[in-house]
Amino acid sequence: MKILIVNGPNLNLLGTREPEIYGSETLADICSRIDRSASEKDVQVSHFQSCIEGDIVNSVCTAKDDFDGIIINPAAFTHSSVALRDAISACGLPVVEVHISNTHKREGFRHISLTAPVCVGQIMGFGSYGYLMALDALLYCIKHRVA
Ligand code: DQA
Repeated sequence: MKILIVNGPNLNLLGTREPEIYGSETLADICSRIDRSASEKDVQVSHFQSCIEGDIVNSVCTAKDDFDGIIINPAAFTHSSVALRDAISACGLPVVEVHISNTHKREGFRHISLTAPVCVGQIMGFGSYGYLMALDALLYCIKHRVA
């Protein structure tokens, strides 16, 4: 089982970026936690982060040959990217959307996700633990063919 973890713009700044909202862990810390959890489950994960919309779209579009599912935090592209939504919809893999913060508690423009409707499900508001929840949820969906 191989899972692709995609993180969008500014998530490379975790650790110093608005820690009162996103916590003090770096993206590398979070990736290590995901790796540990995945190896306990005998799952391989690959990590990809970019601030460039097209690179994220490409990572999703080309995942089918190498991966069984995707966990994505599209960050600000959640609220703006029709291209990413279309890529998720077309990629032919189950995709789980994660947000560290509860975007519904925040500014109005964060209440809309263009990407969530084409994902299997969305997990938000549980800090970085959401990525571990997403891994369990995605494995469940793959095993039970929940789409
Ligand atoms: C975020 C929420 C988005 O609204 C924001 O643009 C981010 C991070 C989160 O993980 O809480 O960059 O996706």
